[in-house]
Order: sequence, then C-alpha cells, then structure tokens
Amino acid sequence: MNKQPIGIFDSGVGGTSIWKEIHHLLPYEQTIYLADSINAPYGPKGKQAIIDLSIKNTELLLKKNCKLIVVACNTATTNAISLLRKQYGIPFIGIEPAIKPAALNSKTKTIGILATKGTLTSELFHTTTSLYSNGIRIIEQQGEGIVELIENGEINSPKMTFLLETYLNPMKEANIDYLVLGCTHYPYLIPQLIKLLPKRVKIIDSGEAVAKQTKAVLKKEHLINPLTHKKVPKFYTNGHPEVMESLLGNDLIVDFLKF
Ligand code: DGL
Repeated sequence: MNKQPIGIFDSGVGGTSIWKEIHHLLPYEQTIYLADSINAPYGPKGKQAIIDLSIKNTELLLKKNCKLIVVACNTATTNAISLLRKQYGIPFIGIEPAIKPAALNSKTKTIGILATKGTLTSELFHTTTSLYSNGIRIIEQQGEGIVELIENGEINSPKMTFLLETYLNPMKEANIDYLVLGCTHYPYLIPQLIKLLPKRVKIIDSGEAVAKQTKAVLKKEHLINPLTHKKVPKFYTNGHPEVMESLLGNDLIVDFLKF
C-alpha cells in the first residue's frame, strides 16, 4: 500500500499551492491532483453541496488507488472532512485558516482573515477561532469573486486589484499586523498583497503546515513510499488545463478529465 499515490483535491487550481509544499517535502511520493474547476467556487455553496462534491472527488481518488487524501481546500475541509473521515477507511489531511499563530503573535491584537463564505460560516472555523480569539480582534472578510478571477486566468487584472483593495482597506484601517489567508487559491496573490499592505503586516497561510502533517501521518501509518526516485505527478482538471499549467510552471502537464 505504501507505493500507492497521495490524492489531493480542491474546488479548482488553488490547491496546487498546497501540492507544491507537499511535493517539496515528499518528493518520492506519487501525487494525483484533482481540480474540480467546473464546480468552482465552492465558497458560496451550502454545506450539503460542498459535502456532495467532496464525496465525488474522494471516490474518484479512491478509484485511482490513493492511500491518503489531502483536502487542499479550506471550504471543503471545514464543511466536509469529519464526514469523509467517518465514511472512508483511509487517512484525510485537511487545511484550516492559521488563526492560532496569527492570534498568538499579534502585537496590535488585531488580525485579518480573508476566506470564503463557506469557511467563515462553518462550525469548525468558529470552534477553532473561539479557542484563540480571547483579547484579539478578528476582522473577517469574505473574498467574494477572487476565486472566479483566478480560475479564469485573471489573476493579475485590474478587477483583482479592485477587489483586493476593497477587502483590505477595512483591515488596514483596523491596524491589523497579520493577514491569514484562509483559502488555498490566495497564496498566488501574495505578490499583490505585499504591495497593497503596510510593511508591518505579515501574511500567513497553512500550506507548509499541511505538508508537514501529511508527512507525519504517512510516517505514523507506515505509508511512506520506500522507492527513492522522483515520480511524475499527475494533474487532472475538468476546467481549463492551461490556467493550471501557468500556475504550476516548470512545464508540468495537466490533463482534462470529465468528472
Ligand atoms: N480553494 C478553496 C479554499 O481553500 C475553495 C475556494 C472556492 O472554491 O470557493 O477554500
């Protein structure tokens, strides 16, 4: 079983930011990435719709023989991971906004979080946030429209700049010193966010932590691939392969797959 692939899914191209961290830390693991771009964004959908799509993605990755699945989507994690863990007999790794390190290190006691509606309204997000929000002001902002622009290949567009300025201004006025990126699409915006935010604001996401957790669980479950040659990763999208290829770089190939 340890030679089987790791499956990774997201509502679209955003989870490739997590794939990069996993591939960097675990270069000898075979990875299969699914981008459900045709159904993006998941953020505005209701909990049941997010669960149904997460089940569909999981079952496809199981058919492809995955030994572990990384839910590289905050929205799917916060709404569906507990059910996936109950329903399927393999380990699942999820991603949640990094509220804890931001809240613990904030000097202005004010942090910002940019995430989807689905994440910000989820029970899991509220439970985690309430553990660390004592004495901390959290400015929550739904990133409406951002995922759509990234999926359309409009990452560096005037429309994106407008949205980011609109969403960041209240945070700047509130004097945040940490911005938590609570959606796996958003790390691709870091160069733009740095330009728009004051220097004191640190931007954090959970990608590296997810990769470390993936490695820890593989070790614990004796699932580390013993074959130490680099594997060619597989990427599938039901949307536009070229948008994903441009985000991945390094001449990586993305295949179209109907699912
Ligand atoms: N990349 C996703 C996340 O981390 C989903 C965004 C969306 O589809 O709305 O939340």
